[in-house]
Amino acid sequence: HTGVPVFSSDETREAIEEASNHIHSTHTPLIFPTETVYGLGASITDPEAISKIFSTKGRPPDNPLIVHISSMDMLSPLLLPDFVLPDTYAALIERFWPGPLALLFPANPESVPTTITAGHPTVAVRMPSHPVARALIAVSGKPLAAPSGNSSGKPSPTRVEHVVRDLGDKVELILDGGACGFGVESTVVDGLAADGNLRILRPGGLTVEDIEDALRSQSRDHTHIPQVLVYRRDYIDKATEMAPTTPGMKYKHYSPSVPVSLLMTSQPPPDVHTTSLFDLVQSDLRLTGDSQSRTIGLMVTDESPLASSSLPAGHKLRVYSLGSAKDLSVMARRLFDGFLTLESEAVDIIYVEGVEEVREGLAIMNRVRKAAGQVYWVKESVQQEDK
Ligand code: TXA
Ligand code: MG
Repeated sequence: HTGVPVFSSDETREAIEEASNHIHSTHTPLIFPTETVYGLGASITDPEAISKIFSTKGRPPDNPLIVHISSMDMLSPLLLPDFVLPDTYAALIERFWPGPLALLFPANPESVPTTITAGHPTVAVRMPSHPVARALIAVSGKPLAAPSGNSSGKPSPTRVEHVVRDLGDKVELILDGGACGFGVESTVVDGLAADGNLRILRPGGLTVEDIEDALRSQSRDHTHIPQVLVYRRDYIDKATEMAPTTPGMKYKHYSPSVPVSLLMTSQPPPDVHTTSLFDLVQSDLRLTGDSQSRTIGLMVTDESPLASSSLPAGHKLRVYSLGSAKDLSVMARRLFDGFLTLESEAVDIIYVEGVEEVREGLAIMNRVRKAAGQVYWVKESVQQEDK
């Protein structure tokens, strides 16, 4: 946690020094890689650059930004001076920083401008683990406020070419750190409530299971283990719409410009109508009486029964692999790349296979549901269709 960068090459050092100069002299945000997704960052002490973050993304001003730090020294100046770190936070920081975890703290209004907090009394802070992100923060000596580096409402970028396609004309400097390892954004956690429990405001790269495990080890000798409250959707109960979440989650999110449908291949809830991919394509693309050839994008796991579905004749199928259903971390890493790759290939529609909401599956399904206009339960019987 010292924050002293070690550079892999002179080229890397020079790029980071240039980016640091950019932060200090241009009043303009820049793109940098993190282990979750690419960010559009600016110093928290540069109101002009912060305001350009919002205009570049088309982001509503009531959606607060996460502040990124490279060392623990940078944390306390951001917080109310009398704030005492709860045991839960100490355990999470010890175990998961640097990494894909953003924690809510009472913000010090003298150091954190209200443009960043959107007027909330709290500030979300995280210490990224990506070496380029940490070196940039350490060399510039400035905590960086950074949302994901995409136009508001689009999937977050996980590779530089995603950024170039979306914001290439609007940003002056992009640091390329290769493909992001997690591929979904950080987990946003609020542990400030008086009950001592943790609330997951946004599921993300750090899993709830790992957080629960950290709390269990921390309170091994105690009788009370704080709870981790998370709201799983069942697609049926409207009350879950009222669950606590981040201000950002009320906006339409993660959507490619192509229509997306979520296909559930698990056991359907009682009374839910099931369909087949063949019938869905037929009705979604309104194929009756139309001879135009379409391209159907299918994002599925390697084991998926959907991959061998039969489709209406004369149309192209573009399958994007989400990897094995046995490794949800690969699926998380590939999800946004799948949306953005299929979108760039101009498919006419995207079908994405749902997964169980455990581990990374919770963040995956959260993103997929926000991208998808429709949810269907699909029953594929490969044997029958082969006849
Ligand atoms: O992984 C990530 O967190 C990436 C990388 C760049 O670090 N950043 C990111 O930022 O995803 P953004 O702005 O796209 O999402 C931040 C989320 C939003 O949903 C926002 O509402 C929430 O965090 N958030 C930020 N500050 C908050 C606060 N004080 N209270 C509640 N939610 C907050
Ligand atoms: Mg975002």
